[in-house]
Amino acid sequence: MKKPFFMALLLAAVLTPHGPVKAQPVTKITIQANKPICEVNPAMWGIFFEDINFAADGGLYAELVKNRSFEFLKPMMGWKETRQGNASGKILIENRNDENSNNPRFARVSANAETGAYGLTNEGFRGMGITKDKSYNFSVMVRTFGEGNVKIRVELVNSNGEKIGEASLSGFTDKWAKYTASFKSSGTDAKARLNILLEGKGTLDLDMISLFPQDTWKNRPNGLRSDLVQLLADLKPGFIRFPGGCIVEGHELATRYQWKKTVGNIEDRKLIINRWNTEFPAHSTPDYFQSYGLGFFEYFQLSEDIGAEPLPIINCGMACQYNTGEVAQLSELDPYVQDALDLIEFANGTTSTKWGKLRAEMGHPAPFNLKMLGVGNEQWDEQYIERLKIFQKAIKDKYPDIKLITSAGPSPDGKQFNYLWPELKKLNTDFVDEHYYKSPDWFLKNAQRYDNYDRKGPKVFAGEYASHSTKANKNDKNGEVMNNWDAALSEAAFMTGLERNAEVVNMASYAPLFAHEEAWQWRPNLIWFDNLRSIATPNYYVQKLFANNKGTNVVPVLLNNEILAGKDSLYASANIDKKTNEVIVKLINVSAKPQPFEIIIEGASVAKKSVYCQTLSSDKLTNFNTLDNPKTIVPIEKNLPFKSNRLSVKVEGSSINLFRIPCKKL
Ligand code: AHR
Repeated sequence: MKKPFFMALLLAAVLTPHGPVKAQPVTKITIQANKPICEVNPAMWGIFFEDINFAADGGLYAELVKNRSFEFLKPMMGWKETRQGNASGKILIENRNDENSNNPRFARVSANAETGAYGLTNEGFRGMGITKDKSYNFSVMVRTFGEGNVKIRVELVNSNGEKIGEASLSGFTDKWAKYTASFKSSGTDAKARLNILLEGKGTLDLDMISLFPQDTWKNRPNGLRSDLVQLLADLKPGFIRFPGGCIVEGHELATRYQWKKTVGNIEDRKLIINRWNTEFPAHSTPDYFQSYGLGFFEYFQLSEDIGAEPLPIINCGMACQYNTGEVAQLSELDPYVQDALDLIEFANGTTSTKWGKLRAEMGHPAPFNLKMLGVGNEQWDEQYIERLKIFQKAIKDKYPDIKLITSAGPSPDGKQFNYLWPELKKLNTDFVDEHYYKSPDWFLKNAQRYDNYDRKGPKVFAGEYASHSTKANKNDKNGEVMNNWDAALSEAAFMTGLERNAEVVNMASYAPLFAHEEAWQWRPNLIWFDNLRSIATPNYYVQKLFANNKGTNVVPVLLNNEILAGKDSLYASANIDKKTNEVIVKLINVSAKPQPFEIIIEGASVAKKSVYCQTLSSDKLTNFNTLDNPKTIVPIEKNLPFKSNRLSVKVEGSSINLFRIPCKKL
């Protein structure tokens, strides 16, 4: 007997040549909006700043002249003699150490340039990034030497040697004084150079030769690169940890970071070599120094500007244990401890205190409201605990409210870690700083790392982390670890675990933060830049997604009464925001397969039938953003309909998804 026609149609719809098509099962997850687990620290997601990869000089600090006061080990590094026409002359580097030990060197330039011009050219930090129609401020300390009559012509030239800006200075005397000039650029170039040309016959002493864009963050003279600060501000970070990292420790104690040498007049801040200058021979950066133009005052000011809690880390009398491991003997620890106490006074003291007064003189009479301080970076073993005890006692005796960040060593497990945690618990320190630079697989496997951490002990500060993917990419000539989608996806999965455990993990920051494309020593990094451009990596967008959507309280998100932390390649966390009355869900699918979902809200009524959704995804784990191609992976925003307390959505394979569901009073 023939089958009726409609039966045939039905069969055709559900059968393929290989058999029946199974409808993909819908994963139902429930958000228990009325069962808050804990509050989220408003400072939960922050920034880790370290002067590595040209992050400060050549990066955030907008100075365009490299080696402006001739204090690099090779005093002429970055400088070249230059002459125009038939002029001649001589450059001598003089040292006045007894007179000025912080800034001993200057250049004595003698010119025989009645026609033409003679002087110096500065190459900048891998060139100077100059933009057409923008204004630039030039300044220099000058005094005359001997008889003569010379003026200075400052000339900005592009990479073809064509003039794109010019200014003149004259009227010098035999007393050191600062001379300034401003000019507009007629061209754009990432590799411009600056000529300082003497015209006439005579000799000038020159020091602190400087060129800044006028367009800096908040238009502060001699300030910070505005595009880079804007990227930080957009993260809405809860805190900024500064100035690192290993840079705090120094290769040896003599090159440790000493905050007092980074405040006060710029010309008195004694330059030192940057420890990353020589650290990695494959990425040796001989011209990497710390001018400290970006010093502790500026870090505090930056934190305030972008609404982040300042989190300085100080040296605890120990140099980097990967390098010399040199320690200050316990009987000589006082100056180190005093530095910590004085730093708190610098940040918070009244203007009648020594260090509070300096803060006021630098332009900030109001306190910076410092609440936290890190003692040491990645320190380990008994020598750390011995020193930490001394710091802890001195700081808590004088400033009991200051929370101390203490080190769990460089790894998230192993001998040092296992020794330090119990010791830090005994000392009842406020925060334990854990670091992990690990593979994507480690991040996925550790999404449950904190589920069983002791809620009553010290809080965790996930102070440095980044997923290091080595998945090959044909564009990656060096075959090194990348800021690719593989890494970002695994970080997001892991971060749902940090968020779910916000009761014990109180703060977290990706590391490192910045890298100059032509001068990096370490990667991956959150933000890449060159002299004119900057880009957000996929990892940046992950940080932004979490930091901009942290809510006020963590709530359970369950699949069949279990957390989502890896089963079926799914990871999730949920918060409520009591201020905006929203349920916030982050849902990460690390498999390549799209997945239909039903998100069910329990314990709250949905207020609007439209849900904000943000997705980050990529079809290839090896994809990443570059300065030339910055939009390979960017967030896509849309609104989705919400029906009868549930949201039906199909999430893409390899995707990170955010939903903000507006509710009635939470
Ligand atoms: O982030 C780069 C380095 O990694 C930091 O300086 C150090 O703390 C860690 O080992």
